[in-house]
Amino acid sequence: MAKSVHIRSGSAEYELPITDGTIRATDLRQIPTDDGPLATYDPGFVNTAACRSAITFIDGDAGVLEYRGYPIEQLAETSSYLEVAYLLLKGELPTPAQLAQWENDVNHHRLVHENAKDIISKSRYDSHPMAKLMSSVASLHAFYPGSRNISDPEEREVNVIRLLAKMPTLAAFAYRHSLGRNYIYPSDELNFIENFLAMLFKRQERHYKADERLVRAIDVLFILHADHEQNCSTNAVRAVASAGNDPYTSAVAGIAALFGPLHGGANEAVLKMLAEIGSVDRVPEFIEGVKAGRAKLMGFGHRVYKNYDPRARIIKKSAEEVFEVTGVNPRLKIAQELERIALGEEYFVSRKLYPNVDFYSGLIYEALSFPPAMFTVMFAVPRTSGWMAQWQEGVLDPEQKIMRPRQIYTGHRGRTWVPVQDR
Ligand code: ACO
Repeated sequence: MAKSVHIRSGSAEYELPITDGTIRATDLRQIPTDDGPLATYDPGFVNTAACRSAITFIDGDAGVLEYRGYPIEQLAETSSYLEVAYLLLKGELPTPAQLAQWENDVNHHRLVHENAKDIISKSRYDSHPMAKLMSSVASLHAFYPGSRNISDPEEREVNVIRLLAKMPTLAAFAYRHSLGRNYIYPSDELNFIENFLAMLFKRQERHYKADERLVRAIDVLFILHADHEQNCSTNAVRAVASAGNDPYTSAVAGIAALFGPLHGGANEAVLKMLAEIGSVDRVPEFIEGVKAGRAKLMGFGHRVYKNYDPRARIIKKSAEEVFEVTGVNPRLKIAQELERIALGEEYFVSRKLYPNVDFYSGLIYEALSFPPAMFTVMFAVPRTSGWMAQWQEGVLDPEQKIMRPRQIYTGHRGRTWVPVQDR
């Protein structure tokens, strides 16, 4: 295997060492060009490593996903979301005593300040729940100003726990606000997921207890969504954190990025697409439209996976378990037909386009009677554990600098200003 790359420029030759399969972009600067020192051009960071990370490993060609070295399939089968959050943040699986303490610590912080709740209450009745989540999470640093002291390990720890704990509460309040329902406060009698479902769905019953199969399905979905290495929202979190920001401010960047239809907003877009297609017999016509470039097959394709997304496989199984409780989502047949046809079509095969995590998750959320606008919120809540693990890793990384990419300037130079009446 190559240990270095040799670059010839005119009569000079440069040797750049290869470490961990990469060259240092700054090593290129020793090579002069007509436009200054040599740099790389990589819109979308398609082939650029921006950090070292020991959190999540993905082999996109083989369809492998591991958190801290543990395969996602094993974690989804046996673990709980809070245990996975501990693993992501601390690097090791907890002992029984550590897990009990961790669950206690997180559950203790689930309440939010009444004024943070009011930020949601004062939103317009039809505002998107992601907008309400963004503004209420942004407000949290005002309630915990010590969070700005990111060099204090205790402040880092307690504010990360607070954020993990409060995300479901704020998410549930954002949901209930859209429906005009009263807010349900966290209950000490319920575990993290049971409590989240109660805060979302409790009506007049004295004690709300969700069906255990649904609790497990949400736990699994949360595990699958917990982290995904340097995706768009994690990169946004790391970029904002690189300027020295607290967990709350950095997480808002992640929520904002996740909102986009090419990222976490894709599950909402999948449901809109399935509604537009309307029936199984219209699937071939839709696929022809995708091949002709008139539409995208939402929930298909991934920057990293060039194979079946392992999370999509697990979600398909969870969907069956949820449908046992809720009844089958009628749009499932359209999704299955889309997948069946797409996986046999040259257009999708040659571009290595497979279902991603968002293709089936929306069907589950719809079966649980969430409106599509809530789907991305259901992604943001568990992804917070990944964002915080990555935030912490970036803050503690001695190599991490403020993120400030370069550009290739394509505009005018040296123009002379002209008074408005002369233009
Ligand atoms: N439907 C149709 N064609 C597609 C799709 C799709 N879903 N995805 C990619 N392609 C095509 C592109 O048009 C391109 O074709 P071309 O080579 O003829 O120009 C080729 O496949 C490569 O696609 P890129 O856009 O270059 O791939 P990139 O890595 O930049 O994009 C992305 C990845 C954004 C996920 C893309 O596949 C997409 O838009 N998918 C639909 C949205 C979606 O499901 N997003 C969720 C991703 S998972 C997540 O964020 C949690």
